[in-house]
Amino acid sequence: MKLCMIGTGYVGLVSGVCFSDLGNDVICVDKDKNKIDLLQKGKIPIYEPGLSELVIKNFRNKKLSFSTNLQKSVKESDIIFICVGTPTKKGGSSADLSQIYNVAKEISSSINKFKIIITKSTVPVTTGDEIEKIIAKKNSKKKFSVVSNPEFLREGEAIRDFSYPDRIVIGSNDKKSNRILKNLYNPLISKGAKYLNTSRRSAELIKYASNAFLATKITFINEIANLCEKTGVNVEDISIGMGLDKRIGGRFLRAGPAYGGSCFPKDTKAIITTADRFKSNLSVIKSVIKSNENRSNILLKRVHQILNNKIKNKKISFLGVTFKANTDDMRDSSSLIMIPSLSKKGAIIRYYDPTGFKKEFAKNENVTFENSIKKAIEGSDLVIIHTEWNDFKSINFKNLVKKKKFIIYDMRNIYSPEKIKEQGLKYFSIGR
Ligand code: UGA
Repeated sequence: MKLCMIGTGYVGLVSGVCFSDLGNDVICVDKDKNKIDLLQKGKIPIYEPGLSELVIKNFRNKKLSFSTNLQKSVKESDIIFICVGTPTKKGGSSADLSQIYNVAKEISSSINKFKIIITKSTVPVTTGDEIEKIIAKKNSKKKFSVVSNPEFLREGEAIRDFSYPDRIVIGSNDKKSNRILKNLYNPLISKGAKYLNTSRRSAELIKYASNAFLATKITFINEIANLCEKTGVNVEDISIGMGLDKRIGGRFLRAGPAYGGSCFPKDTKAIITTADRFKSNLSVIKSVIKSNENRSNILLKRVHQILNNKIKNKKISFLGVTFKANTDDMRDSSSLIMIPSLSKKGAIIRYYDPTGFKKEFAKNENVTFENSIKKAIEGSDLVIIHTEWNDFKSINFKNLVKKKKFIIYDMRNIYSPEKIKEQGLKYFSIGR
């Protein structure tokens, strides 16, 4: 199969590379010439474990190529994946679909034979109908089919998630496209992935509803963690106890800082504005957004309590600042709220992140990047474990730090409170 991925961001690049690894000929297109030049040299613009090796392998095998020429690439391909961004509109909360519609217009001038045009980007329900209208202005409906095929990849786990998905959702009523796509995904279906064929609008909504539900699960357990702290209960027992019920399931019940990243915050807002458009009230998701936005304040309050409300000149270290481990992504990371707030109150902050210096903190007073865990925590009053990188999972604090009296606030519940207290260290965590 000849595939064309339009947009070499997270979704397009990972899916394109993985499809090429399954034996398809894939062209990844982007209008950003610098990005394409880098990719052609085997350099990857995003941090994703395992991605670089797969790019190099498939580029050398000539199964994968990169181009800035959208129209030529579309003409040469059978299946076109639209993978451009759908960020939150500036000053609003709905999804900005301008990139999607611009790409649809460009595709409409390049249809030389039957093409399946797929939205992999997260798009509000009915977007596929609009794309179809745009393309039909210049083409007969027999020459193309617009399908929704949402992606469920997590940053940091994307290659595994592509290779072993729980489900593949194809939103289309067109028999020919369904046959071709089932064939494309057959290597994954034969390994056990469930294949769901549904209407285009259903597929679009499945994606938003899934992200909103996962965000709800996290927010739910975060609020339960607050109650656990007040009642002397361990939230991890609650997650295990709840998760053993198959109707609930144990995943995404890890309490921690506010959820962040490029998807949950954006998609929970966008589904609400879509529902508003259809005069439907998603009150549960509205509460989730509010609760999550307040989460960083709750954790900051705790920091204040831990330091007896004396923040000025306190040395605070952050281990990890990205929104989760195995990514360099800072989008909507709770550290973006916590670090500036503590710096404004006069704290002296040092941070270490395995993905390096973050320009986001460059303008904050007394916030410094250190290039090792040791340098970041040496002499600290409070060490905050913000992100659950493996690098932070077995630190011997006693050996690493000379200063005897310091406190650890483990926001990811990495350490066992009993074991760390045995070392004589003052330790706080989440919901326990
Ligand atoms: C999320 C979804 O998990 C993917 O299925 C989806 O494809 C993707 O959005 C997307 O729409 O593109 P991602 O944002 O990469 O993936 O990261 P997650 O692993 O879902 O984590 C999101 C946030 O929730 C992070 O801040 C993480 O720390 C937090 N989280 C996750 C928790 O606090 N507790 C948990 O138990 C799980």
